Amino acid sequence: MEPLDAKHNGKRSSERSKKRPLKETSNPLIDGISRFLRSHAEGTSHHPVPDTAVIAALPKRYTIYKPLLLLPASVFTSPPAWAQLYASLDDTERQRLYESMASSFRPLGITHVALNAPIELTNSNTGIENRMRSPVGLVPLYGDFGPILAPAKEPDSNDFTEAFWVQTVQNGGIVQCWAPLYTMFSRGNVTEKARVLGLGNRFDGLDASSLGGQDVGEISVVDLYAGIGYFSFSYLKRGVKRVWGWELNGWSVEGLRRGCLKNGWGCKVIPLDEVGALRDVTYEAIVDELTDDDRIVLFHGDNRLAAEIMANIQPLLQREHHPWAPVRHVNLGLLPSSQPTWDSSLKLLDREYGGWTHVHENVDITEIDVKKEDIVAEYKRLGSSLSGQVLDITCDHIEKVKTYAPGVMHCVYDIHVHVDP
Ligand SMILES: C[S@@+](CC[C@H](N)C(=O)[O-])C[C@H]1O[C@@H](n2cnc3c(N)ncnc32)[C@H](O)[C@@H]1O
Repeated sequence: MEPLDAKHNGKRSSERSKKRPLKETSNPLIDGISRFLRSHAEGTSHHPVPDTAVIAALPKRYTIYKPLLLLPASVFTSPPAWAQLYASLDDTERQRLYESMASSFRPLGITHVALNAPIELTNSNTGIENRMRSPVGLVPLYGDFGPILAPAKEPDSNDFTEAFWVQTVQNGGIVQCWAPLYTMFSRGNVTEKARVLGLGNRFDGLDASSLGGQDVGEISVVDLYAGIGYFSFSYLKRGVKRVWGWELNGWSVEGLRRGCLKNGWGCKVIPLDEVGALRDVTYEAIVDELTDDDRIVLFHGDNRLAAEIMANIQPLLQREHHPWAPVRHVNLGLLPSSQPTWDSSLKLLDREYGGWTHVHENVDITEIDVKKEDIVAEYKRLGSSLSGQVLDITCDHIEKVKTYAPGVMHCVYDIHVHVDP
């Protein structure tokens, strides 16, 4: 391929560009970049008009989360000739490039452009664990992303109004919303969501036969790491009566709330204090105000007291006119390991009926089955210390969700706690 910064052949670049009319490709990213390159070539004597081979080698991959065009981290670093040209652009030229990209995608509803950067498990500056999985490296390139707040600042309603929000629709119509500067979005979970919806691999406990005669509309689910509703929304779409969720990150809580509204589900947010206990509200008030339209009750704070909170709510709800929907599933969607909440998950499952916990773990691909034995053994140990009995606990399915890193698989272990009728 001709280097993009190759010397021009002596003709004025504007003459050359006139000879080759701009051809649209089927890729709007390539179109946006090549349109910029042509106009850039007209305005400078250093760069030739790109030929077909150059255009074909331009970056092609992108993601749309309306109204955001999200570019992969490598978009300006490969292939080398393009990387070299990009490196030579000044700030004004780069803005023109981003604008040209955005205008190519305008018919698809795009108004903003950003560069993706991986979620860091540990903040590289402070060395502190990034518990909220904030996308610390997302780089806004084009468009108004609102004020950029310090990661530690707890957002308020004004911050939510001023922030930039995006959304996507997955699995036949589930809308998810988030503020991309503050909340991660993991596309790789789409197969696990499909499984919860009954559209993928085996997923027990959401139909009358595996629920022992109970209807899916009579059960509830606890999601201890709710995020913006990744898995909670799939359970709701599948028809469970209610999801009780926990989430630390205020931006994710607001994303989940907005997503619920777009999907037509009521959502009640209950604030917790710094140790995860109720703040400014009593159990009685939560139960009094709850209606059947509140499909998610989302506790904003740490999940460490989740089992105690549910143990207080259950008897109050059983006394009220709403029928109590037993908790038959507990979702533990934290990577690299959800082990800190295995104990709570056992306490949260219904004592009379039992149920399933969905343990998300990053596992060495050579140790996936060994890990299964370890998890079951640990659940049995926790079960005996909780109940004084040996519980019947099995792992009936391992879902290999996605490769997390070379040699490491994000797996979900379906742990079934059987209770004799
Ligand atoms: C990796 S995200 C999981 C979201 C979704 N389940 C998924 O797999 O994509 C983990 C979420 O758990 C939240 N989180 C982490 N520790 C928590 C805790 N102790 N209590 C409540 N939420 C927590 C984070 O803020 C984050 O939104």
